[in-house]
Amino acid sequence: MSQGSIVAGCLAPHPPHLVYAANPPQNEPRSSGAGAWQGLLDAYASLRGSLESKEYDVLVVHTPHWRTVVGHHVLACPEFKGLSVDPVFPNLFRFHYDLRVDVELAEAMAEEGEAAGLVMKTMRNPDFRVDYGTLTCCHLVRPEWDLPIVALSSNRAYTYFSSEYGDREMLILGEATRRAIEKTGRKALVLGSCSLSHRHFTEEPADPEDPAFEHIHNRNQALWDERVLGHMKMGDCATLLAEMPDFIDQAVSECAEGSLTWLLGALGIPDWPATVHGYGTVIGTGNAVVEWEPGPPTAVEGRP
Ligand SMILES: [Fe+2]
Repeated sequence: MSQGSIVAGCLAPHPPHLVYAANPPQNEPRSSGAGAWQGLLDAYASLRGSLESKEYDVLVVHTPHWRTVVGHHVLACPEFKGLSVDPVFPNLFRFHYDLRVDVELAEAMAEEGEAAGLVMKTMRNPDFRVDYGTLTCCHLVRPEWDLPIVALSSNRAYTYFSSEYGDREMLILGEATRRAIEKTGRKALVLGSCSLSHRHFTEEPADPEDPAFEHIHNRNQALWDERVLGHMKMGDCATLLAEMPDFIDQAVSECAEGSLTWLLGALGIPDWPATVHGYGTVIGTGNAVVEWEPGPPTAVEGRP
């Protein structure tokens, strides 16, 4: 077996609003078509266009909305089928899913995590309801649902201990994920499914897709998002990680669920530029679609 690899790593946020706006047959609610989130839909279209030139055989996703208290859990049944309803936005997301899992890779990820000292558990309940973070992320990246996935839960380390501790654990989990991909010979697309700034509005307009309502919650959130995206574009994820605890505290960032740090760990903490396919807000939160191509570090003009 030849050694596997990560073909690309993506920050791929999961607002259910984007699936609602796209009107796929799996989702029961129908979009108004008012267009509040067109910029982010275009960003995902740009990402999908970029991925067309890459060959991969599995999507590996870390999701904030499958929360586990003890350890990191991995989907490990061959199939999952059911109805996922967003508990906050049942008016937007009632999604019928029917997906396959790459169980061999899932088991390898659990083994590599354990070997690195983490608490891991494989999810073997075939009736387990897959969370909307996983479904939304995977659907927006590859709506064909023609490839198996592996999904990782969000451990509560950031909440119960500290952001510094959570980041250390997620970097280890990311490295373990990469080793499992390499050992099993997979060509994998890895997806960190989270927003950036995450302070959001608490009231919804009559038409949730009304563009007059949609904007960043406040200027502080926008400034943090600009700063974080600047680090990504400059190829300076070491500084991004150094600032991550402040970003989480000051921008209420969904990175507190570990998805972005896990992604950076899987990629080896990129010191080469990312491609930002787009940025936009959903109920006031900041969301970016970002892609890293693994490869040798590239010189960046102006970087210290
Ligand atoms: Fe979320």
